[in-house]
Amino acid sequence: MCGITAYRGPTAAASRARNALERLEYRGYDSAGIAARRPDGSTMHARTLSGVAALAVVVGEEPADATTAAIGHTRWATHGEVSEANAHPLEDCGGRLYVVHNGIIDNADALRARLVGAGHRFATGVDSEVIVHLVEQAQRPGVGLGDALADAVTHLSGSWAVVVLDARSGALAATAHGSPLICAEAGGGTYFASDVGAIAPEVDEFRVLEDDDVVEVDAAGPRWHRSGGSCRPRGLWPVPRTALLASTGRHRDHMGNEIDEQPLIARRVLEALSPGIADGRLWRGLGLPSLDGIDRVAVLGCGTSLHAGRAVAGVFGRLGGMPTRTLVASEVAHEVWEPRTLVIAISQSGETADVLRALDSLPPRHGTVLALTNNTSSTLARRSDAVIDCLAGPEVGVAATKTFVAQVLTGVCVALSALAAADRGDSACVDADLRALAATPDALAAALDTWRGPCAQLAADHARASGFLFLGRGAGLVYAAEGALKLKELSYRWAEAHPAGELKHGPLALVTTGTPVFVVDNGDPRLDVDIAEVTARGGRVIRIGERVLNVGGVALHLPRTGPSWGPLESVIPLQMFARELALRLHRDVDKPRNLAKSVTVS
Ligand code: M6R
Repeated sequence: MCGITAYRGPTAAASRARNALERLEYRGYDSAGIAARRPDGSTMHARTLSGVAALAVVVGEEPADATTAAIGHTRWATHGEVSEANAHPLEDCGGRLYVVHNGIIDNADALRARLVGAGHRFATGVDSEVIVHLVEQAQRPGVGLGDALADAVTHLSGSWAVVVLDARSGALAATAHGSPLICAEAGGGTYFASDVGAIAPEVDEFRVLEDDDVVEVDAAGPRWHRSGGSCRPRGLWPVPRTALLASTGRHRDHMGNEIDEQPLIARRVLEALSPGIADGRLWRGLGLPSLDGIDRVAVLGCGTSLHAGRAVAGVFGRLGGMPTRTLVASEVAHEVWEPRTLVIAISQSGETADVLRALDSLPPRHGTVLALTNNTSSTLARRSDAVIDCLAGPEVGVAATKTFVAQVLTGVCVALSALAAADRGDSACVDADLRALAATPDALAAALDTWRGPCAQLAADHARASGFLFLGRGAGLVYAAEGALKLKELSYRWAEAHPAGELKHGPLALVTTGTPVFVVDNGDPRLDVDIAEVTARGGRVIRIGERVLNVGGVALHLPRTGPSWGPLESVIPLQMFARELALRLHRDVDKPRNLAKSVTVS
């Protein structure tokens, strides 16, 4: 989604803002732009539909120290078509102020009408443009850029992270409301970014703007305001070590490397968390109430994170015997919250607007929200009562892969520790789950080895298939759902996931000769019947995770019970198949169309 970068300092502001934009590219965008002040007071303003790299041409022509203040943006269109004119930075009437904005201005139409009535000339149909005209209107002699911005945002409703450049003075001003923005200082300069990954190589620490903080940066350095008065700068956060650990490997795309990295991530999570499971130390360290004081668990998230949440809920439900619900975050608004509910909010970015809005619907002082996130300085982390780091490191591919495995495993460790701390769960089942957990890195590695060749072949066989079914039962179902999500987002082919028992209640009508049907085998013996129903109609079954015994040339499928979170390793062939098919169809597997890595609007 949209990304913001900005810099004011002694050297090369435009290059720094552009380089930081490059580190945000993975989030997905459709246009990019930059505005910078040259020392002679003139302005560099460039926008493009051809990617951040195209801005290098403009920026690269400047001598290294030519610019001292710059703002940059990657835009993912919500209001207004994808065009160079609609790309940020957006300009005021006088060509003095430039603005970059993330979020949505709900009352933009009314403000635009009022500003046009007052004589302002609009160049775009973009909601964000009202901000630059409001700042222009508020800026009078004696009113600094920060105060003008603070005044401007009092007229807005919606969400925003905004940085304004005054190209005449070289001052920057920034503010945020419901959209992330951070500020950092290094080497005599000040940075702003919507995501710490943008500036992670440049700074060691950063501060997070709370809602309605205003930070103004001029020759005297950064000054923090709040409601007209000055305020102390917010506390410092260290740049997370994992922010610099991007995956590397033999694939040209990030997704391929991130899939391959999953056994390593699993080892990292288990090394960090599993020592605190058996004695409940991991759970107690979070400072949340014992499960003796909790009656039910609600897990909420979106997309892949929601699927990870369903797997984690399985531990509390199947093993712990606790009532659990999994909630689609965007549908939580009218949920009736019962007392003594542990809420687990899962989001790799920690900035997903639907998840943050879902937390708004909780009763005040609810007191038991655990965030499971890959970004421990995110808005979600700061708004929760306890946080657990997924430890996946930066995931560049828009399609979640290694963060899914990391979320499931961190959530499982926490859930097992919570049960141990409260002495809940059948001890034989707990022991079996602990053994399965320890074996997970090897199971993931084995799945990578087993399926690499077959997945490439399957993709070749099914390149023309118009649609795919994914079936599962019990704890296998979430992996079927995740396989279908991966396939549709990467290949743009239709993919539906269903509980296998629902087949004959409707989806079976889709099955005809050659219809590819993936079945996630969690050892439930009823799957044999489901599969027979598909093959009887000519469907082509691809069974993932089966245990087969060959007796005199006859294949016998062995029933088995898996861990309470289901057959996690089954996601590997589903991710690999989705990627192989997408590559075969010449899709960009790292940046699927229409999608963004961090969905900061709801
Ligand atoms: O950052 P989050 O985990 O909250 O993002 C939630 C979804 O947007 C995300 O999981 C999405 O479904 C994945 N990109 C799918 O691969």
